[in-house]
Amino acid sequence: MRVLVTGGAGYIGSHTVLTLLERGDDVIVVDNFANSSPESLERVARITGRHATVHRLDVADREALDAVFAAERPDAVIHFAGLKAVGESVAQPLRYYSENLGTTFSLLAAMDRHDVRTLVFSSSATVYGDHQPAPYREDGGLLGSTNPYGETKVMLERVLTDVAQADPRWRIALLRYFNPIGAHESGLIGEDPRGIPNNLAPYVAQVAVGRLAEVGVFGDDYATADGTGERDYIHVVDLAEGHVAALEHLRDHEGVRAWNLGTGRATSVLELIAAFEAASGRPIPSRVLPRRDGDLAQAWADTTRAAEELGWRASRGIAEMARDAWRWQSANPNGYDAAS
Ligand code: UFG
Repeated sequence: MRVLVTGGAGYIGSHTVLTLLERGDDVIVVDNFANSSPESLERVARITGRHATVHRLDVADREALDAVFAAERPDAVIHFAGLKAVGESVAQPLRYYSENLGTTFSLLAAMDRHDVRTLVFSSSATVYGDHQPAPYREDGGLLGSTNPYGETKVMLERVLTDVAQADPRWRIALLRYFNPIGAHESGLIGEDPRGIPNNLAPYVAQVAVGRLAEVGVFGDDYATADGTGERDYIHVVDLAEGHVAALEHLRDHEGVRAWNLGTGRATSVLELIAAFEAASGRPIPSRVLPRRDGDLAQAWADTTRAAEELGWRASRGIAEMARDAWRWQSANPNGYDAAS
């Protein structure tokens, strides 16, 4: 299959490109490298012995994108490109709405023009908002997020649902990610956030490697077993394999459908820190801080639908996620920057 991957140099994108190349697909990456490094794709080539074709452009650039579709003739698209920082989206809502919606509209127009109507879309567990208890089920009712980033995912799920319902030629998978962490087992590719990480796992990894001083634990008075927030962390390679399972499913299923990609297991902040301490063999200093605005006590997936319909289940546990994240972080303390 020829698969066009937007945002293919990013964290989840690069691991998915690797998985596709390994199974023999031809991969075309479209990325503007605004929040990623081309080095990730060099590393993917080193691991797999195969190269993705890379086009440096903005998905919102309709003419350039049109030319890529005309030249590359993909069979399917996986759409990762977009802005993803929750806090930033609260401060810059217009930028988030215009960029995440604009790039997706541009992509859909190009796909339609070139008769490519198979799409795997990066959604997020954030679409479940804060109005229903975990575990989240795909058919659990009305969607709605607590921040503009999450609202762009809710809106785009609606847009894609309407598009697929209006024209039965579309085949669309909405993949609702829980908390992707970890790295490819080679330690050659991994998460490389710009600036101070917003998310827990890269923050903990950077403390372990000595780049940051201590982890702030955002609240220890939640109604959870140890009082800290619980999340469904999923190994990024399991997540990548979930995209391949969705692509396979779309081969013989029309229409649009949502699937959770999580493990169904909850891990607390303190448990995650302990897993990184075990993996790195280093103490990880932490300090309890006030709760972070907008955070939930608990979020984890009901994984039944993905298991039954996609035949996919996450297989890697927290210890493996911490081990692989540490292998990446310790071999690349400054991410891709200091490399090459
Ligand atoms: N946390 C800390 N200290 C930190 C960072 C996070 O204690 O420095 C805690 C949070 O309070 C939360 C847990 O660690 O309990 C996980 O926080 P993350 O920021 O890593 O992840 P979130 O669950 O808040 O957000 C993630 C993605 C979003 C997505 C959301 C819902 O980053 O894109 O899941 O699926 F919208």
